[in-house]
Amino acid sequence: MQRPRCDQTPAWCALDDFFKERGHAFDLRDAFAQDPKRFEHFSQPAPHVFADLSKNLIDAATESLLFDLAVQCQLEQHRDAMFAGELVNSTGNRAAMHFLLRKPAFEASNTAASQSNQVNQTQTATKNIANELTQVHATLDAMLAYAEKMRADDAITDIINIGIGGSDLGPQMAVLALAEFGAKAKRFHFVSNVDGQELASVLAQCKPASTLFLIASKTFTTAETMTNAHSARHWFEAQGGEGVDRPELARHFAALTSNVKAANEFGITTSFGFWDWVGGRYSMWSAIGLPIALAVGSKCFRELLAGAHAMDEHFRTAPMAQSLPVRLGLLDVWYRNFHGFGSRNIAPYSSALRRLPAYLQQLEMESNGKRVDASGQTLPFQTSPVLWGEPGTNGQHAYFQMLHQGTTVVPVEFVAVKRQAHTLPGHQQKLLANVLSQAQALMVGENDVGGHKHFPGNRPSTFLLLEELTPASLGALIALQEHRVFVSGAIWGINSFDQWGVELGKLLAKDIEARLVTGDTSGLDASTAGLLRRFGVI
Ligand code: F6P
Repeated sequence: MQRPRCDQTPAWCALDDFFKERGHAFDLRDAFAQDPKRFEHFSQPAPHVFADLSKNLIDAATESLLFDLAVQCQLEQHRDAMFAGELVNSTGNRAAMHFLLRKPAFEASNTAASQSNQVNQTQTATKNIANELTQVHATLDAMLAYAEKMRADDAITDIINIGIGGSDLGPQMAVLALAEFGAKAKRFHFVSNVDGQELASVLAQCKPASTLFLIASKTFTTAETMTNAHSARHWFEAQGGEGVDRPELARHFAALTSNVKAANEFGITTSFGFWDWVGGRYSMWSAIGLPIALAVGSKCFRELLAGAHAMDEHFRTAPMAQSLPVRLGLLDVWYRNFHGFGSRNIAPYSSALRRLPAYLQQLEMESNGKRVDASGQTLPFQTSPVLWGEPGTNGQHAYFQMLHQGTTVVPVEFVAVKRQAHTLPGHQQKLLANVLSQAQALMVGENDVGGHKHFPGNRPSTFLLLEELTPASLGALIALQEHRVFVSGAIWGINSFDQWGVELGKLLAKDIEARLVTGDTSGLDASTAGLLRRFGVI
């Protein structure tokens, strides 16, 4: 279904006029002065996540126009198409049904009923969601049974996940985030980079007999992962595996992949599969999440899924004006296309969430970092911002100078956790005081002094608050981010579920790898040839 292009809708024109007339001069301090209930008006509770949107450069009129834009871009129809299993990944001719991975099994019959209506209505929903859900739960049960078996196996002390991109960032982020819930007797390692230094330093800490390798790759062809997997297997076999006479590859290697055939050919007999409708960056809920299940156990893994499912239901059913993913996604459009802000800073004030910025970088930039719409037409407006960040308070002692006094406005997304498990006195108060005061300082500024001590203020931020960092709240937080990316991508008319932009570099790397062996520079541009000569033959 061809949806109207956002910049050709009346709402886009109205937003443009509105921005030029008064939106560009919006002042947060005035807005709070004029509306004593601004905090309440721009608070948005959602499952497990409370959001304060009040320190953003919006008022009711802005949001109303943004909701018009969403209606005119048929956001809700596109959302419903995704949840109905339609082929929203148009270039892959696939559905994008990561939400199904966290749907409870008992909803299968309801799903079947609504699915049959959908098929009648749209003729394009080609997936039998109810059957898929049965398979999802069969695989989930098998994977969690395996996780429990390996958790109980005291002989296994080290788990090495070999994967990259979506086959690394999600599990790594979640294992760190949920360390409080994790198996203390096992160490988790994540090897992604083809730089052998990474694998070598992990292997140096491990012994074959006590190591479980998880080879995580949707395609089972990714160069970095396969190179690391082959080196890991070589290391395992060269050291005799379980014993010189009886290396037990099968016991020490498992594959998480949708290409089970390739895993078998590699020599792995324990595989947990998933489906082509799970994109790499949306895959931590699938077999790719096995490291999480190994770390926190099956009960917590199911809670992670349940938290995400609660957010799915919120996104699927809440009216736009009360939908947190919709409000965040539209805010992203407002900032990117009307204010022209080029980046967003992610500031988790939780050391456990230290890999969240890296995770969100892939989620948003690989999904929406595109210059053409879903039909391949060049877009005349900006799309994905650059996402970046570090945990607080570390960022304060690095780049917050620029956020407060630099020439570029960067909206900040704070993530704070109210209660932590540790009992060290004073730390949590200090941490929370810092996150609150940074958001405050960005907004209020300091206007009584000039020159170097002047803070312009009026710098926007969003504040996401979790009561506690639990499997359920983490699941909800990540599903929230998935859906807000869907919202901005839908407004821009992008296919958020493909990633052609990573292919050219992969192709060229193969050619250059061969040239590094032969020294052949013929046909190369002068810079690449010059650099290659400096490397010499390797
Ligand atoms: O970088 C491109 C990409 O395909 C990502 O989308 C994906 O998460 C990553 O590579 C890893 O892919 P795979 O799981 O197939 O090894």
